Amino acid sequence: MTRDIAREPCLVHRDPERRISHVQDHRRHRSRQRLPRSTCPEARCNDLGIFPAPQGRGTGKPTGASWEAFQRRLSFASADPVHTFPLVEAIARAEQQVGGAPERLFHLAVPPAAFEPTVTMLGAAGLARGSRLIIEKPFGTDLASARALNQTVHAIFDESQVFRIDHFLGKESVDNILAFRFANGLFEPVWNRQHIAYVQIDVPEMVAIEGRADFYDHTGAYRDMIVTHLFQVLGVVAMEPPTSLDARHLRDETAKVFDALKPIDVTHVVRGQYAGYHNEPGVTPGSQTETLAAVRAEIDNWRWAGVPFFLRSGKRLAASRQLVTLGFHEPPLRMLPIHSKHTPNGRRNEIAIDFADPGSITVRFLAKEPGATMNLGAAEMIFRYADSFRAANTLEGYERLILDAMLGDQSLFTLAAAVERLWDISTPLLENPPPIQPYAPDSWGPQPALNHLTAPYRWHLPGAGSPS
Ligand code: BG6
Repeated sequence: MTRDIAREPCLVHRDPERRISHVQDHRRHRSRQRLPRSTCPEARCNDLGIFPAPQGRGTGKPTGASWEAFQRRLSFASADPVHTFPLVEAIARAEQQVGGAPERLFHLAVPPAAFEPTVTMLGAAGLARGSRLIIEKPFGTDLASARALNQTVHAIFDESQVFRIDHFLGKESVDNILAFRFANGLFEPVWNRQHIAYVQIDVPEMVAIEGRADFYDHTGAYRDMIVTHLFQVLGVVAMEPPTSLDARHLRDETAKVFDALKPIDVTHVVRGQYAGYHNEPGVTPGSQTETLAAVRAEIDNWRWAGVPFFLRSGKRLAASRQLVTLGFHEPPLRMLPIHSKHTPNGRRNEIAIDFADPGSITVRFLAKEPGATMNLGAAEMIFRYADSFRAANTLEGYERLILDAMLGDQSLFTLAAAVERLWDISTPLLENPPPIQPYAPDSWGPQPALNHLTAPYRWHLPGAGSPS
């Protein structure tokens, strides 16, 4: 299923026999063998033959007999809170066609303002029982609205039926952070404040608001990207080792990270707006909505106290990247001569996790330049999937997560309390946002504010033409 299809307001019901038997197979398989969660989805889709050929950014165009059979069963029905009959009737018809005991998954790919009425409508129509519910983001716009939405949802659905989606958590390279950290003795022992000086989660985008003013002008970069996506990635980077990768343990550990986050300090926030934003169709004249947000977040626990987490995302910037960088403390280098021209980004070691498909991990360190004298230069080791694995990633974030929701696996979906906590720590900023600062399109955002935020560290996006 492509992201576009996922966002269409259509009723989707699925290939009956193969999908259902396949789902059951995997459930049995998992409980019996306790396979690592991450080994399952590739196999699930490959077995179905739905995404046979990896293409471009790690996504496949659905083809083949399974897809054709699925596609033939797509249908559309409309409903509103008062007239639920067309939807109820269409679902009944579809379920009859499918036969057996089909499971139902509602994907609320609708504007945020429509979440509550749609959930209420599903309840009133008697469609909630035994169903699953994917809710798009942003889940609320502040603490009060997130609480209200959770209350509405919980009046109709049990938390075990609810899948709050963030497609960043479905990205292969974000999932791989768990393997990188917890499957290796090499990295986890240094993954803490004794060794790491700062963390950056940086998602600059070249795109503008892509005709989404209705949504974006009421949302802005902080709600659209920082709360919704970047804090979720922070949860994966910063969590303690979970007892297992099942949904309960994984989500509990993320929730603990969010609990330990300090409320956002507004003096540690930069809000920017690209020149020309007001000319975008649909934007309110004089809008103060930020198209760039950068935040210095802090986690007050034993692992991370004192380590700044810099989160940045903005539209119409000079490059598009999705990068987590962990910068290590500088070691004593008195005995090792080094010329700053060889280390323009400082002498720190870094681990850089590029989580845009197809993704990569780079470890940057200093090495001896060949020759009779001990001179140091910058060096790196890079992990690329294609160098190590024959199989390519066939699932884009949304595809992976919708598949997980069909399977009832909530591991990569956000808990009600975790969402509320992120809005809670955002309250000081939402109530008292600093003024927006203009920036030129295709630039690196408002300066010197962005550089002041990270001082004495620097934003570091190697290969993106970044100034630092
Ligand atoms: C969406 C945001 O959730 O994520 C967009 O609403 C943003 O503003 C997009 O551009 C980025 O996601 P992707 O698909 O580039 O990883």
